[in-house]
Amino acid sequence: MLEVLKELPSDSVLGLIKLFAADPNPQKIDLGVGVYKDDHGKTPVMAAVKLAEARILEAESSKTYYGSDGNSAFLDAVAPLVFGEASPMSGRVVGCQTVGGTGALQLAAKLAVTCNHQAAIWVGTPTWPNHLPLFSAAGLEIKTYEYYDAEHQKINFDGMIKALQSGRAGDVVLLHACCHNPTGADLNIDQWAEVADLIAAKGMLPLIDSAYIGLGHNLEQDVKALQLVLSRVPETMIAFSCSKNFGLYRERIGALFVVGKDGQSSSAIKSHIQYLARTVYSTPPNHGAAVVTAILTDPAFKKLWVSELVESTQRINSMRQQLASHGKVGQIDLATLGSQKGMFALLPLSVTQVNMLRDELSIYMAPSGRVNLAGLNKDNIPYLVSALAKALVP
Ligand code: LMR
Repeated sequence: MLEVLKELPSDSVLGLIKLFAADPNPQKIDLGVGVYKDDHGKTPVMAAVKLAEARILEAESSKTYYGSDGNSAFLDAVAPLVFGEASPMSGRVVGCQTVGGTGALQLAAKLAVTCNHQAAIWVGTPTWPNHLPLFSAAGLEIKTYEYYDAEHQKINFDGMIKALQSGRAGDVVLLHACCHNPTGADLNIDQWAEVADLIAAKGMLPLIDSAYIGLGHNLEQDVKALQLVLSRVPETMIAFSCSKNFGLYRERIGALFVVGKDGQSSSAIKSHIQYLARTVYSTPPNHGAAVVTAILTDPAFKKLWVSELVESTQRINSMRQQLASHGKVGQIDLATLGSQKGMFALLPLSVTQVNMLRDELSIYMAPSGRVNLAGLNKDNIPYLVSALAKALVP
């Protein structure tokens, strides 16, 4: 039976890890997978994580199961990062620990299908390449619209509004909380308000992918748009990831928060999320949850973590500004990167140009032309700029 399977191409983002590792060129630059890197190209374990792990190792007295919604102390610790310390939402929020942000997206999509078998999800393009297969596998019909005009390097807000106007009640709308992946181009707060009001008027359900909180401006600023949606739309799903802001990538730790209209339906929502988790992986792994909980509940650990996060964010922003200062290179206006946020920028390059940069000049980026700015340092930026100039020669 298994012989019917045809080999699939490797993942467009994760596939770059092995290709980069195998490249012997000392000048190679890794702008591929979205992980933080320091000046030396390393993705370190945060000092706050190391301290938390040492404490957990010492104190853990049992590895018995939690339920399908995971570690409740973790959910209590993370919720204030999303909703603020004194959340007016508290009675309406249902939380579930998930297997990374991807696990939260998967549960959210399945929950939407449970509520509405006809649901479509509106996804702005370009987006994280895994969004489309993930939502499709969960049973949502995909409807795409152009979010970002890559050629002209700007958001197509009118196109977005026009597309969402044809949404139906019970459809889902995917939004990126901040640090849009892959473009780095976020809506301004007035645009967020317009989108939120349209979603509410249509009776649609926002799903806010929140994978980069803290890596745009700071922890407080990066949830402002999300909180604005919560204040204007009665029901919202939030997929929160601790992969990037805690550097816990392979520990697979995230959370799904679902905000219902009122407290009445909370236990029904919770029961369905738990059922969905149980059918896929039963209960989530605890290590990442224990680490995040230890950090967020100890003031000294939290202070250290925040300072490390701020340092990472400042480094990324500084690389962004340094690259932006090169201005026009061929048809690319690097200056537009300067006002964008987060790890990523989308360079208007063809797949042929991306392949040429990788195969001839050892510069690795996603096929879309997405670059992870954390892979830059002051020494490799000039090499990248001259490589772009070569790739852009007509
Ligand atoms: C990325 O976008 O590069 C990261 O989120 C890693 C991944 O899983 O694709």
